[in-house]
Amino acid sequence: MGFLSKLIGTSTTKEEIAMEKLNIGIILGSTRQGRVSPQVGNWVKEIADKRGDANYEIVDIADFKLPFVGEGTGEEPGLKAWPEKLANLDGFVFIVPEYNHSITGALKNALDSARDEWHNKAAGIVSYGSTGGARAAEHLRGILGELLVADVRVHPTLSLFTDFENFAEFKPADLHLNNVNLMLDQVIAWSGALKTLR
Ligand SMILES: Cc1cc2nc3c(=O)[nH]c(=O)nc-3n(C[C@H](O)[C@H](O)[C@H](O)COP(=O)(O)O)c2cc1C
Repeated sequence: MGFLSKLIGTSTTKEEIAMEKLNIGIILGSTRQGRVSPQVGNWVKEIADKRGDANYEIVDIADFKLPFVGEGTGEEPGLKAWPEKLANLDGFVFIVPEYNHSITGALKNALDSARDEWHNKAAGIVSYGSTGGARAAEHLRGILGELLVADVRVHPTLSLFTDFENFAEFKPADLHLNNVNLMLDQVIAWSGALKTLR
């Protein structure tokens, strides 16, 4: 709720919501040892931070140590911390590697490990793989539909052959910069619009 509304006890208007800075999580979609997703996520964050239009943060699903849904004791701290983290975010950028023509099991489990906290938010996808991670990204779009996450159209696709050295060191071609900014333009616009629904 906006400061003025708190002071005089009125509900938040759409205009006030629009003035608050959005919180956008850049979600790392892989957890394996030696993964490259942190390099890709940090690159997106650097570009995003220069815009100054939102609070961008890296969200590493590995930090939450989520058990597979329905397994474990139910007392694992990550089970509480993960939806709490998502609840504080207005939108997402998913960093998506392609594993066997889909997203990673870790990302699917993280998506399954919350529900309402995803709803009525927007997301962009940055994917990578031998064909730019396109097949994984399309799978993710189907899942996001069920979670009421509005995925934007502009989709930077990074090639393991031309945007990485030895498939390990991230050296993105210049042409991706414009696409990342266009994707963020759409994420910010839709995240702001959808905030008024929540
Ligand atoms: C289990 C597994 C399956 C993979 N399957 C594919 C695939 O189907 N298509 C593809 O383009 N790359 C595939 N790759 C290559 C990954 O996209 C590449 O290793 C990428 O760096 C993985 O992201 P990460 O380093 O963040 O884990 C696969 C990698 C792994 C580990």
